[in-house]
Amino acid sequence: MVTAVAQRLAAQRREINDTLARLSLSSENLQQVKDKMRVELERGLRKDSHSTASVKMLPSFVYRTPNGTERGKYLALDLGGTNFRVLVVKIRSGIRKSVRMYNKIYAIPLEIMQGTGEELFDHIVQCISDFLDYMGMKNTRLPLGFTFSFPCRQTGIDKGSLVSWTKGFKATDCEGNDVVEMLREAIKRRNEFDLDIVAVVNDTVGTMMTCAYEDPKCEIGLIAGTGSNVCYMEEMRNIEMVEGDEGQMCVNTEWGGFGENDCIEDIRTRFDREVDEGSLNNGKQRFEKMTSGMYLGEIVRQILIDLTRRGLLFRGHITEPLKTRGIFETKFLSQIERYRVVRAILQQLGLDSTCDDSIIVKEVCGTVSRRAAQLCGAGMAAIVDKIRENRGRNQMNITVGVDGTLYKLHPHFSRILKDTVKALAPQCDVEFVLSEDGSGKGAALITAVAQKQVTLRTLMDIMKRFRRELGNGLCSDTNPTATVKMLPTFVRSIPDGSEKGDFIALDLGGSAFRILRVKVSHEKKQTVQMESQIYDTPEDIIHGSGTRLFDHVAECLGDFMEKQNIKDKKLSVGFTFSFPCAQTKLNESYLLTWTKRFKASGVEGMDIVTLLNKAIKKRGDYDADIMAVVNDTVGTMMTCGFDDQRCEVGIIIGTGTNACYMEELRHIDLVEGDEGRMCINTEWGAFGDDGMLEDIRTEFDREIDRGSLNPGKQLFEKMVSGMYIGELVRLILVKMAKEGFLFEGRITPELLTKGKFETKHVSSIEKSKEGLTKAKDILGRLGMEPSADDCIAVQHICTIVSHRSANLIAATLGGILSRLKDNKGNPRLRTTVGIDGSLYKMHPQYARRLHKTVRRLVPESDVRFLLSESGSSKGAAMVTAVAYRLADHGKRRTVEMHNKIYAIPMEVMQGTGEEVSTFGSFL
Ligand code: G6P
Ligand code: G6P
Ligand code: BGC
Ligand code: BGC
Repeated sequence: MVTAVAQRLAAQRREINDTLARLSLSSENLQQVKDKMRVELERGLRKDSHSTASVKMLPSFVYRTPNGTERGKYLALDLGGTNFRVLVVKIRSGIRKSVRMYNKIYAIPLEIMQGTGEELFDHIVQCISDFLDYMGMKNTRLPLGFTFSFPCRQTGIDKGSLVSWTKGFKATDCEGNDVVEMLREAIKRRNEFDLDIVAVVNDTVGTMMTCAYEDPKCEIGLIAGTGSNVCYMEEMRNIEMVEGDEGQMCVNTEWGGFGENDCIEDIRTRFDREVDEGSLNNGKQRFEKMTSGMYLGEIVRQILIDLTRRGLLFRGHITEPLKTRGIFETKFLSQIERYRVVRAILQQLGLDSTCDDSIIVKEVCGTVSRRAAQLCGAGMAAIVDKIRENRGRNQMNITVGVDGTLYKLHPHFSRILKDTVKALAPQCDVEFVLSEDGSGKGAALITAVAQKQVTLRTLMDIMKRFRRELGNGLCSDTNPTATVKMLPTFVRSIPDGSEKGDFIALDLGGSAFRILRVKVSHEKKQTVQMESQIYDTPEDIIHGSGTRLFDHVAECLGDFMEKQNIKDKKLSVGFTFSFPCAQTKLNESYLLTWTKRFKASGVEGMDIVTLLNKAIKKRGDYDADIMAVVNDTVGTMMTCGFDDQRCEVGIIIGTGTNACYMEELRHIDLVEGDEGRMCINTEWGAFGDDGMLEDIRTEFDREIDRGSLNPGKQLFEKMVSGMYIGELVRLILVKMAKEGFLFEGRITPELLTKGKFETKHVSSIEKSKEGLTKAKDILGRLGMEPSADDCIAVQHICTIVSHRSANLIAATLGGILSRLKDNKGNPRLRTTVGIDGSLYKMHPQYARRLHKTVRRLVPESDVRFLLSESGSSKGAAMVTAVAYRLADHGKRRTVEMHNKIYAIPMEVMQGTGEEVSTFGSFL
C-alpha cells in the first residue's frame, strides 16, 4: 500500500517534472536564442529584409543621450505601462544640473483601452486638462514629450504611426495613424489649452535617457514590465531605413515580436500557444508573451489547469477561479517566490490547496519566471555583442537602464537575467541600473534635446526663406516687393594685388566715424600703410539736418588733411558709408533709408557723393575726389580679399548687420551684362520687413521695434545686431523682474531706462570665468542687488539672446553660402567669409557659435571665417585704387558703360525715405 502510494507520487512527480522540463532551457537553447535574435536584429536593420523581420528595429530619431546641457520645463505623458501618468518635469543644467518632477496617475478604464481611438485620446486630454488645472498651468504652453509604449514607426522625433497595439490596448482606428496627430486633434477638439508636442518616445528610449542622464555609459534601455522591449544606440550606417551614415541613433528593437516568423517554435510550449490564443493579438508579440508581466501569470495558470486536469494538482478539481483568465497576476508570481505565502495567495484567489499543491505551484512559478529572465538575458546578450562588434572591440563596458514591474518586483528575475548575459556575452561587462523615475523624465530630456533639433529645423527653414528672398531681390519682377534689396555695388572682383596709390578713406556708420590715410605701395610686394583718426558724431548732428551732417564730415576731413599736411593735394577718397544705398556707379550712391542710430533729414533719396562734394566746395579750403562709395560689408570683403583671394562674402555683425557676396552677373537682372560677377550688397537687415519672420519674433522684438528710429524697418537687424542685443536683454530682465522671477521683483529706475544695458555688457557677462562677477558688477551699477541665483539667470538670458543672434545670422549666411555653392555647381563649397563688427569681435562665444551652426546648416562646405583686422577702410581704398586706375587711363567711363543706368525721378530722390525704399527696386 505504502509502496503503491510512493510509486504513484513518484510517477506524479515525474509527470510534473516532465511538464516543467519543457519550460527549462539548456545553455544550448539559450545560445540559439541569442544567435537567432542577432539574425533578426540584423534583418530588421536591413532594407531588403526589414518588412519580413520579426524584430522591427524602429528608428527613434533620438541621436544622442543627454549631456547635461538640457534645461527647461516640460510636460510629459506616460502611456502604456501599468499606470498612465501626466508629469511636469523641470530640468536644470550646468553646476546645478538636476531634474525635478511632479506627476499624477490617472486610470484608464478597460472600456476606453478597448473602445474607439477618439475616446481614448479624448480621455488622455481630459486627464491632461485636469493635471494642468491642478498645477495652475493652463495658460502656459509647455513643450510636451509623449512616452507612448507601443511600436511606432517614426519619421521624425514628433511623428510616429502606431504599428499595432500590444499588451492590453485595442482601441479602434489607431493602428496606422500618427499618434501625435491624434493627440493634437483631441487637444483641438477640447479647445481649452494648447501644447507643443515635441517628441514621441518609446518607454525603452525614455528609460535609457533617464539613466544616461546620470551615467553616460548607458546606451541601452530595457523594459521588463507589463510588456518587454529593448532599445540601444546603433550606428547610423547600419540603420538602412534612415538616410545618413554619420553618428548614431537609438533604435527601438520591439523585440517583443521576436518569433512571429516561427523561428522560436522549438522552445514555445503548448502553454505559450494557449496564452497567445487567448490574447488580444493572437500570433503577435510571441517573445513578449514568454517574457513579460502581462503574460507570465497566464502561463502559470495554463500549466496549473493542465496539471489539475491530469489530476496532479488541486485534487483534480478545475474550479471557477482557475478558469478565470487573468486571475493569476504577475505580482502574485513575485509574491509567491518572495515569501512563504503560497497557500495564502492561492486561498485569496479562491484556490483551495494542499501543502503539496503549494510546493508545485511555487515550482511552476519559478520555472516560468526563470525562463522569462533567461530569454531576456539571451536577447540582451545578442544586443551587447552587436554593440561591441559595431565598435570593433574585444571587450566592452556598457550600462543598461532598466524599468518595469517585473524587473523591480520579482525577487530573482534580475539576478537570472544578469547571470545569463554574463554567460552568453562574456566579452561584455554589463551593468544594469534601475530607472528610479520611470521614462517620463527621459521623455522630458528627449524633448529638451529635440527642441534643439527643432531649433536646427527652424534655422533650416529660415535659411530657405532667406534664399528665396535673395532670389526675389535679384529678379526684376519680384524686386519691388522683396525685402532684401540686393543692391549692385559695381565692384567686380576682389583685389588682385596690382592696386597702388595714396588714398583717403572715410568710414561712417559703425560705432565710430573714422578718417584714414591708406598708402598702398608696390616695392617688392604690395604693402599697405594706414593712419587713422576717430572723430565724434554727436547725436544732435546725426539726428539734425543732412547739410549739417555733411558739413561736419567735410570739416573733419579738412582737419585730417591738415594734420596730414596734404591740404594742398587732391587725393582720391573712398567713402565707406554703412547704410543701404542704391548705386548707379561707383561714385554715385543714393541713400535709400537711414538705419541704426542715424536720422539726419534731407538725405534719404539723395546722392551722398553730391552732398559731400557740396559741403567740401562750400568750405573751399581743400579739394577731394570722391572716387568710390562702398558699403562696410563690401569694404570688409575687399579688406579680407587682400589677404585671401578666396574671400567672396563680407559680413558685418556690429552696430548693424549686413552681408555682401559675389553674384554671377547673369543672375543680376538689374544690371546689364552676363559675363563675370559683381558684388551684391544684400541689405539683409531688412529681411522680415514684410512679416516673413513674424513666427519667430517675440514681444521683446516688437517692443524694440516700436521704440526705434525706424519702426517697421530692419526687423532682422533688430533681432541680431549690437545696437539691439543689450536692449533685448534689458527688456527681458524687466519683464522677469516684474513677474517676480528675478531680483525679488525689485526694479531700479536705471534698469527701466532704455539703453542702460549695453551689448558690451552682454559680452562681459557671458565670459566663462568672470561672467557671474561681471553680472553682479554691471547690475550693481544699475542700482540692483542681484543674488547669486539672479546672476546665473541673467547670464542665461544673455546667452539665449546672443545665441539666437548667432543662429539667425548663421541661417542667413547659410542661405548665401548655399546659393554660392549652387552658382558654382561644385559638390563642395570652399570659400572665405570676411567678417567685421563689434558684436562678433568682442563677444566671447559668438564666433564659435556662428561657425558651428553654419557648418551644421551647410555641411557640404569648408568655410574659412577671416576677421578683418583693419576695418573696411583698407577695402574701400582698394576699390578706390581700381576706380582711380580706370579713371587714370581715361577708362573710367567703362565702369559705367557696362552698367545699365536707370533714371531716378526727382520727386523720388528728394521725396520721403519711404517712397525711396519702395522705389529702391529701381536698380
Ligand atoms: C516605466 C515607464 C512606463 C513603462 C513602464 C514599464 O516606468 O514610465 O511608461 O511602460 O516603466 O513598466 P510596467 O511594468 O508598468 O509596464
Ligand atoms: C568696420 C567698418 C565700419 C563698420 C564696422 C561695423 O570696422 O570699418 O564701417 O560699420 O566695422 O562695426 P561696428 O561694430 O562698429 O558697427
Ligand atoms: C511594446 C513596446 C514597449 C514594451 C514595454 C511592448 O508591448 O510593444 O513598445 O516598449 O511593451 O512597455
Ligand atoms: C545697414 C547696412 C550696413 C550694416 C552694418 C545696416 O544697418 O543698413 O548698410 O552694412 O548696418 O553696418
